[in-house]
Amino acid sequence: MSELILIIDFGGQYNQLIARRVREKNVYSEVHPCTISIEKIRELNPKGIIFTGGPASIYEEDAPKCVEDVFSLGIPILGICYGMQFMSHTLGGCVKRALKREYGQMEANLDTSSKLFASLDEKNICLMSHTDYVDVLPEGFKTIASTDTCKIAAMENVDKNFYAVQFHPEVNHTNNGDKIIENFVINICGCKGEWKMDTFATRTIEKIKEKVGEGKAVCALSGGVDSSVAAVLMSKAIGKNLTCIFVDHGLLRKNEVEEVEAIFTKQFDVNFIKVDARERFLTRLAGITNPEQKRKIIGEEFIRVFEEEGKKIGKVDYLVQGTIYPDVIESGLGKSSVIKSHHNVGGLPDYVDFKEIIEPLRDLFKDEVRQVGREIGLPEFLVNRQPFPGPGLAIRIIGDITEEKLAILKDADYIFREEIAKHNMEKELSQYFAVLTDTKSVGVMGDERTYDYLIALRAVVTDDFMTAKFAKIPYEILEIISQRIVNEVAHVNRIVYDITSKPPATIEWE
Ligand code: XMP
Repeated sequence: MSELILIIDFGGQYNQLIARRVREKNVYSEVHPCTISIEKIRELNPKGIIFTGGPASIYEEDAPKCVEDVFSLGIPILGICYGMQFMSHTLGGCVKRALKREYGQMEANLDTSSKLFASLDEKNICLMSHTDYVDVLPEGFKTIASTDTCKIAAMENVDKNFYAVQFHPEVNHTNNGDKIIENFVINICGCKGEWKMDTFATRTIEKIKEKVGEGKAVCALSGGVDSSVAAVLMSKAIGKNLTCIFVDHGLLRKNEVEEVEAIFTKQFDVNFIKVDARERFLTRLAGITNPEQKRKIIGEEFIRVFEEEGKKIGKVDYLVQGTIYPDVIESGLGKSSVIKSHHNVGGLPDYVDFKEIIEPLRDLFKDEVRQVGREIGLPEFLVNRQPFPGPGLAIRIIGDITEEKLAILKDADYIFREEIAKHNMEKELSQYFAVLTDTKSVGVMGDERTYDYLIALRAVVTDDFMTAKFAKIPYEILEIISQRIVNEVAHVNRIVYDITSKPPATIEWE
């Protein structure tokens, strides 16, 4: 059993980011809800515990709390934001409510003799985001950081190995935050940092084996990185009891159906079924313009196809999806609970006719999924494929979806991708695609007036797809792409380039 850092979740938006920061130090970490029992904590036997932040105030009636015995286990604890307030309140300190929320980057004075801040400078920029604050330290604690507005910005009790920070070391807006996490995990908890992503793969395969046993599963395969990694993990766990179902909903990119089919029938030894569901999806989507409605229809239709295909295979209990962490939070779900038949991932229907949905990558970020993919032997071209959303081109056609618009978008997008490849820019861009807007504008071609569609090009650079910067593709290349699309794709007479980052925009247009 490898060393574990247990992350106790008080509902903060950055909880998986903390887990990720710990994994970056090559230490395995798991996020559990704050209702975790003391027996379960003992069973997990963590080397250290981190309390996350959270939106609640400790004095609220149903403020999230964790069993108080957690402080008697002799395990080092790091409290972050609400986690610090919980620690202080429980151990006899005093938490107060400020008149105004403090948000933003603040300069903190650190006591660098503390093990938590070892090898940092005395002045460090930290991200503060809180209203409550620790006003009086619990007994045995001392202050190890302060800012102009927050006199106890961090505290420690060295004898007990309890540490807490009011700011957020897990976000990039805190300078050297990763060093603070490292100090806790390696120096204070004594972890060796020998864990690797292949341990994640091995552990996940074991867990799946245990759960599914001799049962059968279908995997929703899109040919993208996430679902491909999920499929291969599953196939390593349950072999031919897994069937991969690839739904051609008519919203895939040019040539994609043939490419995915070739990969999964020629390169992998898995049960693979392609379902031609083009007509069914396009009929249900006809006339729909609302982006959320499009997503819901596609999500639901997907599930119905899987259920039908599942029934043909026999008794299938499990549906496997390549959901990753950003999908979960972007769907408005902060919690990482196991989803049963009544589930709530954005875009999926309320009722699903499977015993359980398995999402082996639910806690990982995109780049971590790629790492797992490499560890389990996926070819590099597949691991490096740019992401493609489940709802496909439907969310890249603004307004209603028609066969004609799909054909226009597929051709324009293909030219964009072709030119990016030709100019060796694939590795520089995290995601790039064309969008068919619902705007038409006047142009002139030859001597003729045209009134045709406006295509937008979108290209971004990002690590985790939670935030992204628009890519600075050279004008010369944009010019070639623009000329080619307008010349080669009928009914397009104008191209624009999207120069917004995320936030405030999102990567996809819908
Ligand atoms: P946004 O547009 O939210 O996209 O900035 C972030 C990343 O998620 C992808 N995306 C999706 N992927 N199902 C998916 O599998 C979806 O419904 C979905 N919506 C967005 C998007 O392509 C980008 O990589």
